[in-house]
Amino acid sequence: MSWLNVCDVGQVKEEFPFATKIEGREVGVYLVDGEYYALEDVCPHAYALLTQGFVEDGKVECPLHEAVFDIKSGKCLREPGGRDLNKYPVRVIDNQIQITLLAEE
Ligand code: FES
Repeated sequence: MSWLNVCDVGQVKEEFPFATKIEGREVGVYLVDGEYYALEDVCPHAYALLTQGFVEDGKVECPLHEAVFDIKSGKCLREPGGRDLNKYPVRVIDNQIQITLLAEE
């Protein structure tokens, strides 16, 4: 499994996730209850970046049509999201957040 550097831990805040593009994929990194989570960033419904949406209580709301996803699980909590989000494994090494692009179920 190859780990890729994403950002420094200081670049991710509870209300301000970090958006990046890694190997052609848009990825959002979130902080919830002291843990980091990485999710696909393009909303499955249409084209909107979820990291530009509203984040509260471990959930992110799509800025375009207001689908809501659970950040820890990627689960779609409110339509029209269409499906759950892919999650990527995350680890922190020396304050550097790393992910691997193998999606978790
Ligand atoms: S693009 Fe996200 S709900 Fe429509």
